[in-house]
Amino acid sequence: MFRALPRVRNYRKEDFEVLHRIDSVCFPENIVFSRCELNAYLNHPGSIARVAQDARGILGFVLARIENRAHAHILTLDVVPEARHKKIGTSLMEALHKELEIRGIEAAVLEVGVFNSAARRLYENLQYRYAGVLSEYYGRGEDAYRMVRTFFPNGKALAPEILKNHPG
Ligand SMILES: CC(C)(COP(=O)(O)OP(=O)(O)OC[C@H]1O[C@@H](n2cnc3c(N)ncnc32)[C@H](O)[C@@H]1OP(=O)(O)O)[C@@H](O)C(=O)NCCC(=O)NCCS
Repeated sequence: MFRALPRVRNYRKEDFEVLHRIDSVCFPENIVFSRCELNAYLNHPGSIARVAQDARGILGFVLARIENRAHAHILTLDVVPEARHKKIGTSLMEALHKELEIRGIEAAVLEVGVFNSAARRLYENLQYRYAGVLSEYYGRGEDAYRMVRTFFPNGKALAPEILKNHPG
């Protein structure tokens, strides 16, 4: 049966507990945000958070932080296991990109585990490009790729500079 894509909306404070639970299901202990970290990121004035919701409740969220006028850092993208592979992750990223473009942000940067093929494919489909390997970024033996997507012609020129200055 056809089921419409969930609605993507802004994060609200009352979503916090559900988002924390979703993050704990989506990531292993060594990567998952603590309550304190997640709360701080969600409430940071430079943060953009969007949640995907349908009649069942919240099914996923994306969280990014504007680092400066030129670029944003995507901190997490989570979709509950039972709702995966239905384009919810893609819809969340597209909603985020729309907001970044409205704000004139020229590039988005993220890190993804080298073995996380689902997320890598999703980002590749959304025009993220590989921009380096971060050795043991997620702990021993767990390297990550840094990926970058640019939004405006000027973003392309800025990408190398952004990467150079971006904290590993
Ligand atoms: C990665 C994640 C967000 C994807 O969410 P999703 O809603 O299932 O993704 P989408 O349905 O939008 O998938 C988009 C594309 O990504 C790729 N993809 C998604 N899941 C995949 C899987 N299990 N295996 C291979 N490719 C996959 C496909 O190319 C897919 O396109 P297609 O449906 O046309 O084949 C989800 O699996 C998740 O929450 N994982 C755990 C947390 C995580 O790893 N987050 C990313 C951190 S960097």
